[in-house]
Amino acid sequence: MAHALTIAGQIDDLGGQPTVTVKPVKTSEPEENMLRFDLENENDTIRAYRERARQCEALGEYAIAEQIREILIDEQEHQTDLATALGIDAPDVSRS
Ligand SMILES: [Fe+2]
Repeated sequence: MAHALTIAGQIDDLGGQPTVTVKPVKTSEPEENMLRFDLENENDTIRAYRERARQCEALGEYAIAEQIREILIDEQEHQTDLATALGIDAPDVSRS
């Protein structure tokens, strides 16, 4: 929720209108599949925030880029926690 408020504030500051459309939640048995779906979502989120940070830098929006980096720290922790729970290394999402 804190991340959503931060991003919504940034969009509002830039004159945009935040949307409220959320991605569908995938469910499946066994529970391990749910962890894998969560990990995929974290990977997608990290890729998207990295791209947004690069775009902000290119536009000279350094403060917004910094806020996005702070969110990225949390998302990368989530990714590491999920990978650890699955007994795997955190995926390399540096390439799209
Ligand atoms: Fe997350």
